[in-house]
Amino acid sequence: MDSREVIVVTGGKPISGTVHIGGAKNSVLKLMAASVMAQGETRLDNVPLISDVDVMCEVLETIGAKVERGEQRGEGRHTLFIETSDLTSYRTPYELVAKMRASISILGPLITRFGRACVAMPGGCQIGSRGLDMHISSLEALGVQFDMSHGYINATTPNGLIGAEIILDFQSVGATENLMMASVCAKGTTAIHNAACEPEIVDLAEFLNSMGAQIEGAGTPNVIIHGVSELHSTTHKTVGDRIEAGTFLVAGAVTGGPVTVEGVNPDHLGLALKKLHEMGADLVITDNMVTFERTEELRPTDIQTLPHPGFPTDLQAQFMVLASLARGGSIITENVFENRFMFAAELARMGADIRIDGHHALVNGVSHLSGAPVNSTDLRAGAALVIAGLVADGPTCVYSIHHIDRGYEDYVGKLCALGADIERVQAQALSL
Ligand code: EPZ
Repeated sequence: MDSREVIVVTGGKPISGTVHIGGAKNSVLKLMAASVMAQGETRLDNVPLISDVDVMCEVLETIGAKVERGEQRGEGRHTLFIETSDLTSYRTPYELVAKMRASISILGPLITRFGRACVAMPGGCQIGSRGLDMHISSLEALGVQFDMSHGYINATTPNGLIGAEIILDFQSVGATENLMMASVCAKGTTAIHNAACEPEIVDLAEFLNSMGAQIEGAGTPNVIIHGVSELHSTTHKTVGDRIEAGTFLVAGAVTGGPVTVEGVNPDHLGLALKKLHEMGADLVITDNMVTFERTEELRPTDIQTLPHPGFPTDLQAQFMVLASLARGGSIITENVFENRFMFAAELARMGADIRIDGHHALVNGVSHLSGAPVNSTDLRAGAALVIAGLVADGPTCVYSIHHIDRGYEDYVGKLCALGADIERVQAQALSL
């Protein structure tokens, strides 16, 4: 997607209808990485068409995997075939890891497949330092030795991988995943305590177990992995993207809806649905759909982002838009990333009344927002700015939309289909 493109959204049109939710970005990238631990062809379904998947395909091809899209075989566009019999390298280049932090998820699988790995150190990003200390220390407990030099993480396992008992300092999603993938073929049993419990962790464990792994307790803070001798390739349908679903429910909330999201497990949206209800939503929930409607004015609420089942940090920016239009004051506390309030400054340019005090954002609702040129600081902030534009007076031009394309398939098309006045245009075409 051309980053010189801009999303222009003009507020005032209520949106309503049903939107299909795709597979979860924060699961599929790890499933793709995990596929390298088996020889043979893995088939993944419900794969979203997003640029992060394109980057992970490049990472896999760099190490010798053959990746084919479904349509190359007369299958659907959301299917991926990954052939990993003849991998040629355990090294991933800096330019790919720099594009996408999630490439670090290839570390555990490469160590399991080759007994070693050489992965470029990912940088920080707009929302925080994105440390790796828990990844490193927990893999060392399995017998991995690390040498960090010249911006690369060199991992070796001179005595092989040996199961261990590990307590994570924080319920890190990435560290839990890398640890699970590095221990599936380790000698003996690995116990992960204080593990992350996100639905994407459960999806990865189900995928690994379908490859022949023996993992228990995924989705709870205590995950047990019994090492097996080898894994085999498999077929798997990616879990629905709860963050995409929550984003569209908030889009319905700002204009009133009704908006239905289908293709997601509502249980994965627990606290977000509770908060939507507190803010004035009427919700109808079935086993794979949620319908949202709001017939009264938005009410304020307080939000604390926490590891799952706490409120997801990836919906914080979207809910800040809701809070900025509620009648009253809300306090939003960001506990997961140290710098995920960059977005507030952009929202304030549209007239929101937000005061940042450390990890707290004090949001006083205003009667309306006004359209403005704004910049996406990360993919969730970009999606949230578009949502703000749905109700702002006049046009809003959202820049740096390559961030949005990283994690949302056809975001503009889906909003357009719900009735929004929105389009992607070339930046130079704007007279603003
Ligand atoms: C995953 O990031 C998601 N990304 C993030 O989604 C999500 O916000 C995050 O989990 C929390 O749910 C993917 O799955 C690709 P963490 P991850 O390890 O694994 C610190 C989005 O918008 N930390 O749980 O990086 C870290 O810096 C993205 O889709 C260390 O300090 O999250 C962060 O402050 C954004 N040392 C906090 O912990 C470590 O070794 C949570 O990180 C590991 C993490």
